[in-house]
Amino acid sequence: SRTVKLAPSILACDFSRLGEELSAIAGADYAHVDVMDGAFVPNISFGLPILAAARRASALFMDVHLMIERPERYLRDFAEAGADGITVHVEATQHLHRAVQSIRELGKRAGVTLNPGTSLEAVRPVLADVDLVLVMSVNPGFGGQKFLPASLERVRTLRRWLDELGSEAEIEVDGGVTPANARALADAGATVLVAGSAVYGPDGGAAGLERLRAALI
Ligand code: DX5
Ligand code: ZN
Repeated sequence: SRTVKLAPSILACDFSRLGEELSAIAGADYAHVDVMDGAFVPNISFGLPILAAARRASALFMDVHLMIERPERYLRDFAEAGADGITVHVEATQHLHRAVQSIRELGKRAGVTLNPGTSLEAVRPVLADVDLVLVMSVNPGFGGQKFLPASLERVRTLRRWLDELGSEAEIEVDGGVTPANARALADAGATVLVAGSAVYGPDGGAAGLERLRAALI
């Protein structure tokens, strides 16, 4: 089976110690950066200056998840602030191909994502044009929510569609990922697992990351 990449979400870390919290997950594959605007989702997290600070503090691949309305307005800014990959929601833009194309023109890895209540068909038209599809396994807006089990079947369906296309795009899963469901997600075809609260627990990011990795062996 494939090696699964791990992408801790810094949303769950202690922002007053951002540099140390990033060092704790230096062994991860990506740092997942959750940007929320208080409009697309009912919460505000952080934006460009925090991404820029994370970029200065860490050499990790910055996997930026934009939970913002009309993300096309800010793609260049996020690219310049240090994003390596940018993922946009199908529900947030009127022109999905254009947004994906813009990300690629900026030289960044282009991702597309959808809420758990959005039909998978919504991403199908862009599958051949993206580097990553993110399956939201909670309704976005907050860390620490419960994994929606129907997400597993969505991962399987996407796996089939990408294989049919001969696409090498990553399948990332975000929301409620824990050592208890990581193996099942990998078996369903996920190649990147995001985890916030399961990584940044009471014993710190390095230990949390290790527990997740152990669950995948
Ligand atoms: C949810 C965010 C997630 C979140 C995951 O809106 O997109 O990335 O930080 O947190 P956990 O792993 O705690 O569900
Ligand atoms: Zn996220």
